[in-house]
Amino acid sequence: MPKAKTVFHCQNCGASSPKWIGRCPSCGEWNTYVEEVVKKDEKKSWKKPGAHHLSPKPIPIREIRLDEQQRYSSLDKELDRVLGGGIVPGSLVLIGGEPGIGKSTLMLQIALLLEGKKVLYVSGEESEQQIRMRAERLSLKNADCYILTETGTDELFQQIEILQPDLVIVDSIQTMHSPHIDATSGSISQIRECTGEFQRYSKESSVPVFLIGHITKDGSIAGPKILEHMVDTVLQFEGDRHYAYRILRTIKNRFGSTSELGIYEMQGSGLREVSNPSEILLTQREEPLSGIAICATLEGLRPMLIETQALVSQAVYGTPQRTATGFDLRRLQMLLAVLEKRCGFPFGTKDVFLNIAGGIRVEDPAIDLGVVCALVSSWNDTPLPSNICFAGEVGLSGEIRAVNRIEQRISEAEKLGFSKIYISPYNKKGLDLKRFKIEVVLAGKAEDLIRKLF
Ligand code: TYD
Ligand code: MG
Repeated sequence: MPKAKTVFHCQNCGASSPKWIGRCPSCGEWNTYVEEVVKKDEKKSWKKPGAHHLSPKPIPIREIRLDEQQRYSSLDKELDRVLGGGIVPGSLVLIGGEPGIGKSTLMLQIALLLEGKKVLYVSGEESEQQIRMRAERLSLKNADCYILTETGTDELFQQIEILQPDLVIVDSIQTMHSPHIDATSGSISQIRECTGEFQRYSKESSVPVFLIGHITKDGSIAGPKILEHMVDTVLQFEGDRHYAYRILRTIKNRFGSTSELGIYEMQGSGLREVSNPSEILLTQREEPLSGIAICATLEGLRPMLIETQALVSQAVYGTPQRTATGFDLRRLQMLLAVLEKRCGFPFGTKDVFLNIAGGIRVEDPAIDLGVVCALVSSWNDTPLPSNICFAGEVGLSGEIRAVNRIEQRISEAEKLGFSKIYISPYNKKGLDLKRFKIEVVLAGKAEDLIRKLF
């Protein structure tokens, strides 16, 4: 056994130093260095049987076989979507999220859904009975789902070698412990070592591994950033615990786009896939209310309709308040300035509150036009007709600008039963308006549109 060595690690970025320092020279954070004893021997937990003498040779890129990389479906459409089209063999996926959000439920559900695959669910957090109880609630049947409550990676890999699973789920990486390194579970060096072992295992055996990770107070995945660099895909499971909807977001994906989004609803019997997100984002109302406009937006490649709500009221204090939930505040201020200068609404004396319903955050500029109409609707206290929606960006001179993927937005609005959609005339090029049953109205300037609507 080599001599015990202590190293100080930054808990924020994972940088190391032989002595304690107050400010991390790498990430600039204060007071993040923690001492860890490192006693690392060369033996590794995961070793491909009989393969350790062969060092890999360079191969011409054309000769690399592709069939090993064939994705397969997880039988859960939302998860497939965020993974970029299915599970990639040999990939290492990290799923982060706040405690109680449903990470364990989601992964157990996937394990129980994957019929015909041998899935090993390793839990360092719950007992077999607790997992069985949860599985009863989910009531999905995959007889080949194995549960192992183990935290030591040596024993874990021994069991993996006996079982030969097709998929491994580790709940959670922070509870795993490698005996080859003398640090407590959950410490930076331990997380790094265990992730490294799972990485070697997944790459050499082509078995996909899903790691569940805790997140810290500020929302990043506990452990150093290096963890996110080591894995192929990082997914974030988020949503309000008091709210039934959960969003699975891709933060990093070596095998697909990072703009994808999966939506689930937490029910008594597990997570339900929400294939039509507009259904949760639009409220069904009997009579139209003022200050509400519906916008056709995109999250990733998926079109959805959302409701923007605005409230404009007389300012009581000297400085009027501006609050935006789910929308960029600076963008709201810009739109208010456009309304003031180009359309003659003196917002300078008004408090303005803007909210995107459903608790989601929208960065798509195409909702500008809807925001502007919601603001004017609240100013005039006149409701907009409930069968119209908007898709357009508003420029600084009040012009309505083209947005991307307009056809998908129009189709989604049509699918949801809207009878009119307002878009920019610059979007007309190459668009076959006769294809749609919904009436597509071209509006060039915000001020003209406002005059027409109110
Ligand atoms: P859990 O998966 O334990 O969260 P994490 O692993 O992210 O900490 O989440 C459990 C929560 O989900 C808990 O508050 C109960 C709720 N739940 C349901 O509403 N329905 C169900 O079928 C299950 C299994 C859990
Ligand atoms: Mg859990």
